[in-house]
Amino acid sequence: MPEYRAAVLGCGGRGRAHAAGYAAAPNARVVACADAFEETARVLASQHAGAVVYTDYRRLLAEQRPDVVSICTWPHLHREMVEAAVQSGAKAIHCEKPMAPTWGDARAMHKVCAAAGVVMTFCHQRRFGAPFRIARDLLRAGEIGEIVQIEGYCPNLFDWGTHWFDMFHFYNEETPAQWVIGQIDVTEEQTVFGVPVETSGICQVLFRNDVRALLVTGQAPQSPRLAKLVERVGIVIHGTTGRMEIATGAVRLRVCRFGHAPLEPEMPAWPEATILSVQNLLECLESGAEPELSSARALRATELIFATYESSRRRARIVLPLETEDSALLTGLEAGYWNPQPQPPV
Ligand SMILES: NC(=O)c1ccc[n+]([C@@H]2O[C@H](COP(=O)([O-])OP(=O)(O)OC[C@H]3O[C@@H](n4cnc5c(N)ncnc54)[C@H](O)[C@@H]3O)[C@@H](O)[C@H]2O)c1
Repeated sequence: MPEYRAAVLGCGGRGRAHAAGYAAAPNARVVACADAFEETARVLASQHAGAVVYTDYRRLLAEQRPDVVSICTWPHLHREMVEAAVQSGAKAIHCEKPMAPTWGDARAMHKVCAAAGVVMTFCHQRRFGAPFRIARDLLRAGEIGEIVQIEGYCPNLFDWGTHWFDMFHFYNEETPAQWVIGQIDVTEEQTVFGVPVETSGICQVLFRNDVRALLVTGQAPQSPRLAKLVERVGIVIHGTTGRMEIATGAVRLRVCRFGHAPLEPEMPAWPEATILSVQNLLECLESGAEPELSSARALRATELIFATYESSRRRARIVLPLETEDSALLTGLEAGYWNPQPQPPV
């Protein structure tokens, strides 16, 4: 089994989580860490014997030629870092979500890796989380009958919504979407990891197997009733004979079968999801299998984000594939279509 030399670009919260994944793997080690702040890179490197510190990620790639590169910076840097990692000869890239601020950038990243034969994954690590996996096992076992509709609730389409759009595909057995209809409101000034997001939004998706999904975003107004199901961030799966609720705050799964008392399965001891995501990437690098978090899957989730923005711009249903390359939200902001107001500090 070869030993993979891994590098981490961006050594903040997510960089540390990825590095823990390589440290836990029997066939990988972190050889270098890059961060714009030397001290941040130094702190992470000090936890991985022999890891070299850089403030210039391009120099790291040129000097270290890592086999696997974790990209854990904010979204506007993902594309340039992916392209540089591919040029440096990396075999695999594990990049943080969301893919990129525009649909064009997300597609370009996927294309450059596919052309070079580089295995790329995006860290939609909820696919490896205990309640999510157990819910899918129960769904596959027919506990709530046939799946009809999946609902997601979260703060925004881009940063959080990417997880739920991805999980819609996870529960719907990777079936592609057919069309999207949505609306966003951008009245409050808000950015997440440097990217402007909507104040509130709604998106309905029809998948090719007739399953529907609904994503509702925004934190206002507070919804105490909804909180009884999934707190403020969660997923509800509606089946023909019951429903499942997965809440992320207290991490709880509830299975409600019509005519029966609700069940809350015990959550077993479970490895950390990001560690499992790194492990899966390394295994797939060996076997040639498609990783659970493949960029092809991430692209399907990402398309739903930008198709929702596009639907809002065109006031129309968007039949996929989405052809416009920009982000209709970013373009709309530049054009003054929305004038979000600054918010008082919380
Ligand atoms: N998968 C998840 O559940 C999850 C959770 C939180 C954040 N994220 C995503 O992870 C990404 C990073 O989030 P974070 O919380 O780790 O952010 P962070 O701010 O903690 O870390 C980002 C790091 O990148 C560094 N950086 C900036 N420019 C750089 C450059 N040119 N070269 C090298 N390093 C540079 C910063 O100094 C910082 O240390 C974001 O895209 C975010 O959306 C994912």
